[in-house]
Amino acid sequence: MSALEELFAAASAARARAHAPYSRFQVGAAIRCDDGLVHAGCNVENASYPEGWCAETTALGRMISEGGSRTIIEVLVMADGERLCTPCGGCRQRLSEFASPDTQVHIAGHEGLRKSFTLGELLPASFEFGDGS
Ligand code: THU
Repeated sequence: MSALEELFAAASAARARAHAPYSRFQVGAAIRCDDGLVHAGCNVENASYPEGWCAETTALGRMISEGGSRTIIEVLVMADGERLCTPCGGCRQRLSEFASPDTQVHIAGHEGLRKSFTLGELLPASFEFGDGS
């Protein structure tokens, strides 16, 4: 299995466990860190709609809490529908905390890979905290 196939399989398995009864839009995300570990997650919606969160955020929480490297080298987001399921603005910023502008963000559907971006393409001029020194 290639590295990308492994990410796809992890995102696909997580997506199948999505809790998305309101939008009925199931999303899976998988993150690979530079130690080779893969962390996956799904979206988790709530009856009070704004309280739900995205698949990417679940995967990030798992990455942090499970231990290991926190340096992301690639991400794969998987959802169906005609449009590319690119990460929302908040998730782009959350990913950027642990990634770099050249980190690959792959967008897939059930049929496979649809398009790849760099995080820098998705989030140019990202916010960074501090005075730059
Ligand atoms: N969603 C994600 O999980 N990831 C994305 O990249 C875009 C949107 C979720 C949030 C919500 O549960 C559903 O998709 C519809 O917006």
